[in-house]
Amino acid sequence: GSYDTGGHEHYLVKEIHEQPAAVERTLRGRLDDRFHTAHLGGLNLDARELREIRRVKILGCGSAYYAGEMGAQLVEELARIPAHAEPASEFRYRNPVIEADTLYIAVSQSGETYDTLAAVQEVKRKGGRVLGVVNTVGSAIARACDGGVYLHAGPEISVASTKAFTSTVVAFALLALHFGRIHDLSPAEGRRICAGLKALPDQIREILAQEQRIAELAAEYAKHDGMMFIGRVRGWPVAREGAQKLKEVSYVHAEAYPASELKHGPLALISPELPTVAVVPDDELLDKNLTTLGEIRARSGRVLTVGHRVPDARLADHAITVPKNEPELDPLLLSIPLQLLAYHAAVALERDVDKPRNLAKSVTVE
Ligand code: AGP
Repeated sequence: GSYDTGGHEHYLVKEIHEQPAAVERTLRGRLDDRFHTAHLGGLNLDARELREIRRVKILGCGSAYYAGEMGAQLVEELARIPAHAEPASEFRYRNPVIEADTLYIAVSQSGETYDTLAAVQEVKRKGGRVLGVVNTVGSAIARACDGGVYLHAGPEISVASTKAFTSTVVAFALLALHFGRIHDLSPAEGRRICAGLKALPDQIREILAQEQRIAELAAEYAKHDGMMFIGRVRGWPVAREGAQKLKEVSYVHAEAYPASELKHGPLALISPELPTVAVVPDDELLDKNLTTLGEIRARSGRVLTVGHRVPDARLADHAITVPKNEPELDPLLLSIPLQLLAYHAAVALERDVDKPRNLAKSVTVE
């Protein structure tokens, strides 16, 4: 067909490598260097209507939900509007209260996920307003929404989502920047985020250049029956998506926990048999994260960090470092090595990488 693996062994790794171009397409024509904001033509909401929004509720399934969690953090941080993500698959079953001053945002690569469509219909039936963050133009979810942002990530064939995930986070950064500049985000702060967004494609290329080493680490860590993924605040959705990706394509059990929750239970699991992937950005929580690594090491747990620096050898066995962007955009970059880790774990274990057992690309039934 017109879309083949283009010399790559699998669609999954092809799509991982397409991410710099996908991000460029999501950004194209949307950044405003004069007013340091983002222009999103399809929102169908003017500045006055946006100012009336008191809360943002983001709905999606699986990786779309985890991208939505990153989106919620971006909206809260940049626009200071309370924002929260929830699995779309759960939403309609709890008879949700729909509020006029809440903006609902549905996230979907395919635009055909039944649970997400049903969540949109639940909001609309009760008179709420829904935007879509969708990849597939003209899809059922895109048509059901009142407006939205298309990702333009290009077709995603592999069951495991990678470039759509990344483009979704970029789309949320654009939305958050747009909302922020209508609220109280200063021009200087807007400029900082615009510059960070423009730096992303080259920084993703730098991470992809480390593929060989990540493949070697993946082959080694894939020998274990399970892995723990931890992260704090901005690092928490990174850990969740990293664990999901590993489970989906390698079938290695992976559990994601907020790093701060470890000592409230799952620390009991830590042993040399259960290695930890720790998301450790160089931010205001660095010291807290290093303390957690010390607690894992005290139980003889193996540690692989993904962050901006190589920690003390006493705290980690291995470290993958990524280029630093702005703190709000770092989660996106920290997610990329975890995609490569999952992919190469699956290759090492000879899994059916593009079509994992029991999974479908889009779940169009209840
Ligand atoms: C991603 O790797 C998964 N296969 C899955 O979680 C997916 O993201 C989810 O089913 C939502 O799909 P959608 O984005 O097409 O709605």
